[in-house]
Amino acid sequence: MPNYAYYNQKFMPLNDAKMSVMTNFMHYGTGVFEGVRGSWNKEKQQVYIFRLKEHYERLLNGCKALKIDLPYSINDLIQLTVELVQKSGLKESQYIRPLAYKSTEAIGVRLHNLKSDFLMFNLPWTRYLETDKCKVAVSSWRRPGNNFAIPQAKLTGQYVNSAFAKTEAIENGYDEAVVLNDSGRVAEGSGENIFLIIDGKLVTPSPSESILIGITRNSVMEIARKEMGLEVIERPIERYELYTCDEAFFTGTAANVAPIAEVDHRLVGKGEIGPITQKLCELYTDITHGKNPKYMQWCTPVF
Ligand SMILES: Cc1ncc(COP(=O)(O)O)c(C=O)c1O
Repeated sequence: MPNYAYYNQKFMPLNDAKMSVMTNFMHYGTGVFEGVRGSWNKEKQQVYIFRLKEHYERLLNGCKALKIDLPYSINDLIQLTVELVQKSGLKESQYIRPLAYKSTEAIGVRLHNLKSDFLMFNLPWTRYLETDKCKVAVSSWRRPGNNFAIPQAKLTGQYVNSAFAKTEAIENGYDEAVVLNDSGRVAEGSGENIFLIIDGKLVTPSPSESILIGITRNSVMEIARKEMGLEVIERPIERYELYTCDEAFFTGTAANVAPIAEVDHRLVGKGEIGPITQKLCELYTDITHGKNPKYMQWCTPVF
């Protein structure tokens, strides 16, 4: 299997990257991670990695919050990621998982006086949401706000909240959860941002609504404005608007642009993929695959 890892400052086959059971971050969630997309472009025989710089900016901000001091600059991390994919020789669409973590082999809840390290690996791409028309439910779980967590950072420990929401949704027969924030307003999916289309405008929760400020979210906002001339509004969103909007979709590195067809047993629009969602989906797919010359600055070629 051509999956590769960068671990202990060395490249190695993924199966050789093993960690001690006493590693601090495993016990206390003291890690910060990213999910990065590599897309295979068959015509160009090329893998394009999407918005690598922005992923590492977010990772390094999370590291600051966790008091993780990595000896790598953003350019070093970009270079290591390209090298990882080259070494693996994986010429297909893929998911890359960088992780910075508290590496000291010691029990004890704290952030100080602990060593840190960085690893990453790549895997062939698999579909994240199993359907093209998601049926979702508002979760009984809430997304922790700034009094309890750092919603803007991908801290490993915070993802138990996402796991609660995801499993509740799946076990209740839905494809994904919509998680409200502490104020009862719409925040996001368990691992995706959310957009609604209301009166021809794209509406998405503002950054202050306890969301992860997604890189796909940012990309879709820019594409919608520039390529479709759509007005994009970041504002608080009420649960009621989920039931009455014309179209809705999730965005995320793993989920791409994923249409939502039903919320709490109410059809979104006619329960079909709406025209704006469809167009955004096509534009985003082309751009991530390095097929749109206007957006090549978002794509890092590997081979
Ligand atoms: C909680 C959460 N929200 C939103 C997203 C979407 O972010 P991005 O588009 O940067 O992948 C993710 C995935 O990383 C996530 O885990």
